[in-house]
Amino acid sequence: MNMNPTSKPLLLLGSLLLLAAGTLPLQATTACVPRERDALLAFKRGITSDPLGLLISWKEDDHDCCRWRGVTCSNLTGHVLRLHLNGGYDLDRFELVGLVGEISPQLLHLDHIEHLDLSINSLEGPSGQIPKFLGSMNSLRYLNLSSIPFTGTVPPQLGNLSNLRYLDLSDMEGGVHLTDISWLPRLGSLKFLNLTYIDLSAASDWPYVMNMIPSLRVLSLSFCRLQRANQSLTHFNLTKLEKLDLSMNYFDHPYASCWFWNLTILKFLDLSQNRLYDQLPIALGDMTSLRVLRISNNDLGSMAPNLLRNLCNLEVLDLDESLSGGNMTELFGSLPQCSSSKLSELKMSYNNINGSLPAGLFRQFPNLVTLDMSINLITGSLPVEIANMETMAMEYLDIRSNKLSGQIPLLPRNLSALDIHNNSLSGPLPSEFGVNIYMLILSHNHLSGHIPGSFCKMQYLDTIDLANNLFEGDFPQQCFSMKDIKVLLLSNNRFAGTFPAFLEGCTQLQIIDLSRNNFSSKLPKWIGDKKDLVLLRLSYNAFSGVIPDNITNLPNLRQLDLAANSLSGNLPRSFTKLEGMKREDGYYGSGSVPEDDLSSNCLIGGIPEQIASLAALKNLNLSRNNLNGKIPYKIGSLQSLESLDLSRNNLSGEIPSTLSNLSYLSDLDLSYNNLSGTIPSGSQLGTLYMEHPDMYNGNNGLCGPPLRRNCSGDIEPRQHGYGDDNKAGHAGVVECFLRVMHDYL
Ligand SMILES: *[C@@H]1O[C@H](CO)[C@@H](O)[C@H](O)[C@H]1NC(C)=O
Ligand SMILES: *[C@@H]1O[C@H](CO)[C@@H](O)[C@H](O)[C@H]1NC(C)=O
Ligand SMILES: *[C@@H]1O[C@H](CO)[C@@H](O)[C@H](O)[C@H]1NC(C)=O
Ligand SMILES: *[C@@H]1O[C@H](CO)[C@@H](O)[C@H](O)[C@H]1NC(C)=O
Ligand SMILES: *[C@@H]1O[C@H](CO)[C@@H](O)[C@H](O)[C@H]1NC(C)=O
Ligand SMILES: *[C@@H]1O[C@H](CO)[C@@H](O)[C@H](O)[C@H]1NC(C)=O
Ligand SMILES: *[C@@H]1O[C@H](CO)[C@@H](O)[C@H](O)[C@H]1NC(C)=O
Ligand SMILES: *[C@@H]1O[C@H](CO)[C@@H](O)[C@H](O)[C@H]1NC(C)=O
Ligand SMILES: *[C@@H]1O[C@H](CO)[C@@H](O)[C@H](O)[C@H]1NC(C)=O
Ligand SMILES: *[C@@H]1O[C@H](CO)[C@@H](O)[C@H](O)[C@H]1NC(C)=O
Ligand SMILES: *[C@@H]1O[C@H](CO)[C@@H](O)[C@H](O)[C@H]1NC(C)=O
Ligand SMILES: *[C@@H]1O[C@H](CO)[C@@H](O)[C@H](O)[C@H]1NC(C)=O
Repeated sequence: MNMNPTSKPLLLLGSLLLLAAGTLPLQATTACVPRERDALLAFKRGITSDPLGLLISWKEDDHDCCRWRGVTCSNLTGHVLRLHLNGGYDLDRFELVGLVGEISPQLLHLDHIEHLDLSINSLEGPSGQIPKFLGSMNSLRYLNLSSIPFTGTVPPQLGNLSNLRYLDLSDMEGGVHLTDISWLPRLGSLKFLNLTYIDLSAASDWPYVMNMIPSLRVLSLSFCRLQRANQSLTHFNLTKLEKLDLSMNYFDHPYASCWFWNLTILKFLDLSQNRLYDQLPIALGDMTSLRVLRISNNDLGSMAPNLLRNLCNLEVLDLDESLSGGNMTELFGSLPQCSSSKLSELKMSYNNINGSLPAGLFRQFPNLVTLDMSINLITGSLPVEIANMETMAMEYLDIRSNKLSGQIPLLPRNLSALDIHNNSLSGPLPSEFGVNIYMLILSHNHLSGHIPGSFCKMQYLDTIDLANNLFEGDFPQQCFSMKDIKVLLLSNNRFAGTFPAFLEGCTQLQIIDLSRNNFSSKLPKWIGDKKDLVLLRLSYNAFSGVIPDNITNLPNLRQLDLAANSLSGNLPRSFTKLEGMKREDGYYGSGSVPEDDLSSNCLIGGIPEQIASLAALKNLNLSRNNLNGKIPYKIGSLQSLESLDLSRNNLSGEIPSTLSNLSYLSDLDLSYNNLSGTIPSGSQLGTLYMEHPDMYNGNNGLCGPPLRRNCSGDIEPRQHGYGDDNKAGHAGVVECFLRVMHDYL
């Protein structure tokens, strides 16, 4: 053993001192081997960036490298046995965050190392290739290079790692291919092989090669561009294989011709998305060890009767988008029928299944946690016996987009997510809900009546979607224990009363849509404190009073829609803090186009100049109010604007020439104001006028092309057809004041 003569006494002394203080565990630690310490420091020198600080504890002046983060040494010999330094992902940005640099060949000096995990780091180095020298680290039993963005090919030198048990080369998103895999069987003790995302399209012999590694227990070849799985094997060597993942390849041949149906000891089989077709083979019925079977996104046609009846150990069955049709009753008959089924996840979405949910479904599968029957043709009602099942484990129930009718029965007590939107369910809500529900999606049905007070017991709710139903009355005001709400969708019902007060206690609100109801109250001032709010839609209600000034403090707001209410007072003074309407990026997804719609209210005063700072705004509608003053000159800074409607106000002065800068503008309406002066020129405005010839109507003072009235004279005699143009605007004013008056009565 090659111990550093100076470090050992020092360490012993340290240990004794610590022992005296009573803090050190009893066994003596052995300092690391200097040669290995130098190898680790060389590795550190190959790292150019370490944003997670993985190597902070790796210090030149700390002699005991066995205490460095990620390093494990033998207690007896001091040799490094494990080096485990995985990075991670920044989930907000979908970015890899870990070590950047290259893997130093000096690691070869760790000649006792058994476990090397450098996953999720940018360690591809300047060459981008998987280093060949890794094949000389003979003592390795575990090698994990998952998610390092290597390119090129996997070096056959890895075939020298005869002690390897675990090899994980998955998710190397750089694009690695592997043509000659004949070296793999030299890994004679391999138990676990994950090659997910490696291009094996040229390795047509893959089943023969894998069959020569009898020690394999887990084989993952998902997304490997495998061309077929119908090779014929004469003898099965893979007697220990428990997990086989061949999902996301391009087999394009009948199910029955796959080579693996004789592997009756398989516990996990994933064939999702492979263009497999025709019937499943009868042999599947004998694979009684199966716990997980996923065959989604293939073309099974129909399911043979009784096929899966004996698969008593099945816990997960995923048949999403794989059948071309089926009858619920018959399909149910082909599922496992064992006396106590272990099935906990059943997915049959998007299969054209007709018929109704059999009453026995829930009794047959008492351990069902997830049931997804969405997007089918299922008729009839939700079986009332769901509620009677005291022992029911059901947590996720998704039967959206079917043809269910009747009332919603009492729901399983443990339910946490329910999506039954887009059916024909009717009647009132059940009187009680399970307390664990966090997601409740009931929209697009014919549900009616008041929301029961018991609704408030669902204190973990974060998503509520009751839109497009016939609900009426107040939304419960007292749900003060609901603090986690992020999404509240109530649009298109007959809700009345005040803005739900309990929302003040919800700090994570992102989406509020109360549009098209009969809500009537002032807008709460605390709305300006909901920093995560992305969408606030309150249009088509009877909200009144002023717009709270600090609504413009919301940094993430993308859509503000307060149209068609009775709001009065001025527009908010400052728009400059609406950062979400300045960002162009698709951070919130394409679904949230930045827009601001305050039309059809009773707003007065001018349009603040700062509105021009909302550079990402696509739609701005301030029409049908009582706004006056000039159109802000800087309006041309709203570079993303596609639609601008300022019609039916009392705006005066000239049309700013900057309007012609707006190259994406496809909709413009300035009609029925008091605008005057020359209309700015510009081909964009010319084209718009051709498409919207009414866009300048009702502005007596406007002149110049494209209008017929020219600007030469000081005061034009009134031309026929322009005289009473502003009457529509005035009618709007009267209507508006009537509405405001009505609010005060
Ligand atoms: C080495 O020491 C650690 C920490 O006390 C202990 O958990 C581990 O089991 C020991 N290993 C061996 C091989 O003795
Ligand atoms: C390899 O590393 C990845 C990412 O750290 C991890 O998810 C995976 O489980 C590891 N593979 C094995 C076989 O342990
Ligand atoms: C490792 O494998 C390569 C290619 O398979 C071979 O040429 C080389 O001799 C092997 N090296 C050792 C040290 O076994
Ligand atoms: C293989 O790797 C992929 C990608 O990292 C992962 O999703 C999958 O779970 C792994 N397979 C196994 C059996 O661990
Ligand atoms: C079974 O595995 C052994 C050991 O790797 C190998 O020699 C033999 O050729 C394999 N048999 C088949 C049919 O692949
Ligand atoms: C697979 O099973 C079928 C039917 O049991 C049998 O005819 C065939 O020989 C088996 N194939 C292998 C390779 O064991
Ligand atoms: C295997 O499937 C491919 C299509 O993926 C087909 O072209 C080939 O003829 C099939 N081979 C056998 C032996 O069935
Ligand atoms: C229900 O589905 C089965 C199987 O696809 C089909 O044969 C039958 O005609 C369907 N019944 C109705 C009423 O559509
Ligand atoms: C489904 O099959 C059952 C039994 O064969 C039959 O009674 C029922 O009418 C079928 N339903 C549909 C919608 O085809
Ligand atoms: C209900 O959920 C709780 C907590 O998740 C769990 O402990 C309990 O076993 C579940 N009840 C049933 C019947 O599965
Ligand atoms: C409702 O279901 C139909 C048929 O599956 C589908 O086309 C439609 O997009 C769904 N609508 C909603 C709002 O989910
Ligand atoms: C918004 O106004 C309310 C009431 O005036 C106040 O309590 C709150 O702190 C303000 N919020 C912000 C972010 O300015």
